[in-house]
Amino acid sequence: MNELAAEVARRRTFAIISHPDAGKTTLTEKLLLYSGAIQLAGAVRAKKAGRATTSDWMEMERERGISVTTSVMSFEYPHPELPPDAPPVQVNLLDTPGHADFGEDTYRVLTAVDAALMVIDGAKGVEERTEKLIEICRLRDTPVVTFINKLDRECLDPLELMSDVEKKLGMTCCPLTWPIGMGKRFKGVYDLMHNRLHLFQAQGHDKIQQGILVEGLHDPRLDELLGDQVDELRQAAELLGEASAPLDHAAFLAGKQTPLLFGSAMNNFGVRELLEAYIRLAPGPLAREAITGPAAATAPAPGEPVPTRRVAPTEEAFSGFVFKIQANMDPNHRDRMAFLRVCSGVFERGMRAHHCRLGREVGLGNATMFMARDREIVEAAYAGDIIGLPNHGTIKIGDTFTAGEQLRFTGIPSFAPELFRRVLLKSPLKAKALAKGLQQLAEEGAIQVFKPLVGSMFIVGAVGQLQLEVMKHRLKSEYDVDADYESVEYTTARWITPKPTTKSKIEVQKMLEGFQQKNQGNLAHDSHGDLAYLAPNKWNLAKVEERFPDLRFSSTREHT
Ligand code: G4P
Repeated sequence: MNELAAEVARRRTFAIISHPDAGKTTLTEKLLLYSGAIQLAGAVRAKKAGRATTSDWMEMERERGISVTTSVMSFEYPHPELPPDAPPVQVNLLDTPGHADFGEDTYRVLTAVDAALMVIDGAKGVEERTEKLIEICRLRDTPVVTFINKLDRECLDPLELMSDVEKKLGMTCCPLTWPIGMGKRFKGVYDLMHNRLHLFQAQGHDKIQQGILVEGLHDPRLDELLGDQVDELRQAAELLGEASAPLDHAAFLAGKQTPLLFGSAMNNFGVRELLEAYIRLAPGPLAREAITGPAAATAPAPGEPVPTRRVAPTEEAFSGFVFKIQANMDPNHRDRMAFLRVCSGVFERGMRAHHCRLGREVGLGNATMFMARDREIVEAAYAGDIIGLPNHGTIKIGDTFTAGEQLRFTGIPSFAPELFRRVLLKSPLKAKALAKGLQQLAEEGAIQVFKPLVGSMFIVGAVGQLQLEVMKHRLKSEYDVDADYESVEYTTARWITPKPTTKSKIEVQKMLEGFQQKNQGNLAHDSHGDLAYLAPNKWNLAKVEERFPDLRFSSTREHT
């Protein structure tokens, strides 16, 4: 294996997803604790709180008890199946916003990972937000590892939890560990893969649980250690042998089967098994689909075939795409950071790269990587790594950077907003600041901005109410813009493009002009200059679609 292939092979990049309160933050802390990246669990929370005091926006997050932003953390961990002197696995962990109103952000995070770790509260089973998140994973067949958390509390029956996952999420379960009791009777988990018992010991929450290992289900020590609960375990193991599917790695990689582990994040229990199972099973960086040639920079003409190719992670030439832009990472410098997933080749400190949308070479500046302890300047990054690029306004979500080839990685959409407001400025002197603020928020993907064909006021669109709140707050605090936000009659938007057709370019142009004339009051350009139809209701939308059968009304828009 050459050096590049070896570096790629030791990377694992995943997102951690859950319904709020299932224990995502706690589990993240404990994963970092296991990696040795932090000494004390609680550091993630402490950091959160520290930031919150220095930024109004973060303060809003704290007040509402929600996590708005997405963070990235990387750490190294020895591969459980390789000799101790083998290079460790580089784990890149992406957190996702817990609140449903930021689903779009979560979607984009999921485009940047190769697998997902789903946390389920054992007492609650599969909750609504988890169902939504798995729907998103399914769009890309993302493999999912499941952690059933909070076994130290009274939970649902493990078999019931399995059938809940299978029914609601459409994946078969393959338990890798099995709990023995729960709540006050929680004794530990049995590792079905390695045929050994890991006993739960009530220890301090900030210590790593080593547990006690015994060999095999019929080890007489089990009777000693588990007392009357040993029969429960033996029966369950027998039942599982008949009822559950064996681990099928191909089905897991295709997102059809999910390995299941039980534990208690708060007690550091089952976390190491989870991390090691994840490292063993989850795929390394995967190849990614990209549009090639001139079509990568501009929207292709209707009906024109779009050439694509799969970019392998071990290709020598560097490539990557931006899936997130985040403001206020450091409140002392009003910086905006673009998060880029490396897809192939090597990113090197100080390198220049081809900015495919702009069609020119740019310096990428000093990229940052987020090692659990701190930010670090990146010397070299490989496929699967997530790096933060300083962004002075030239980088948008969806931008692709390469060593020179014209490429655009696909599958990073915007969703049609469902909430709209007209922005009424209180002072006309602030018009410029408003335009700048809205443009920057739109580039971050924090909000969508529409400029109606008729009239001069902006209309903003969001998928969730909280997005609007964050926008108002940030316009005021960062751009000093005071505005009123008036309700408008629209309930959804559709991006308009001509359908592939045999008609000539002139005929298509005429048809588009006719459409624009007849529907002026409902048409607007988004922040990329693309035409969108703002519909007051579904009935109206259906009518217009019927009247213009040659037009495509898209509810998602790919970033170009
Ligand atoms: P989230 O990021 O998914 O929203 O969840 P988070 O980790 O913040 O956990 C939500 C609550 O569940 C927290 O309690 C946390 O302590 C608790 N929790 C997490 N893992 C376990 C577990 O294994 N067992 C039990 N019993 N509880 C767990 P909280 O009261 O909201 O916050 P805190 O005061 O404990 O920080």
